[in-house]
Amino acid sequence: MTYKKIAVLVGSLRKESLNRKMANALISLAPESLDLEIIEMGQLPLYNQDLDDHPPQAWVDFKNRIQGVDGVLFITPEYNRSVPGVLKNAIDVGSRPYGESAWEGKPGAVLSVSPGAVGGFGANHHLRQSLVFLDVPCMQQPEAYIRAAEGFFNAQGEITKDSTREFLKKFMMSFSNWVVKHASKAAQQSEAA
Ligand SMILES: Cc1cc2nc3c(=O)[nH]c(=O)nc-3n(C[C@H](O)[C@H](O)[C@H](O)COP(=O)(O)O)c2cc1C
Repeated sequence: MTYKKIAVLVGSLRKESLNRKMANALISLAPESLDLEIIEMGQLPLYNQDLDDHPPQAWVDFKNRIQGVDGVLFITPEYNRSVPGVLKNAIDVGSRPYGESAWEGKPGAVLSVSPGAVGGFGANHHLRQSLVFLDVPCMQQPEAYIRAAEGFFNAQGEITKDSTREFLKKFMMSFSNWVVKHASKAAQQSEAA
């Protein structure tokens, strides 16, 4: 079997984050073909274009890790109907200097989690707007706006509802197929890195 390395980016730094619980649940529900790893973003200094010529080591390390994967799974909360700053900062860091973006051609998928009624729809679609510009082929279907109300996870962080687990398995299988379909451009990037 050919394994695909996937970076999982979680847009919340909170210890009890619903989105981090979701990331861990998705890792356990994913098909064997995906080798998923959460890549942390909280340590990244804020993007500043003045530093493009002498980037902080944390930026370099982050870009290298993104360049080395076959795809990216974005799992994001919604902050004020958009993407949390920590995730937007990481996207900006990975995108520069101009012409040297780590994101280009990496197949991606977006899943949003919120206790709110619309499951982070606003953040999910704001993020997709950036991914269009960054030339990240983003999986269209199934869409995933997850409303994680009280009782969604049990004390072990597992998803309590069978039908939701089945949906998320389907989501991850579709993502695996998506990554294979769009893998060639991402592979060129990792070879060049
Ligand atoms: C600064 C801030 C803004 C928020 N804005 C929204 C919002 O626009 N829509 C929404 O559904 N929830 C919003 N929330 C609530 C979050 O969805 C909720 O705190 C969620 O648990 C955050 O994800 P996490 O559990 O992964 O940290 C906001 C929370 C914060 C802290």
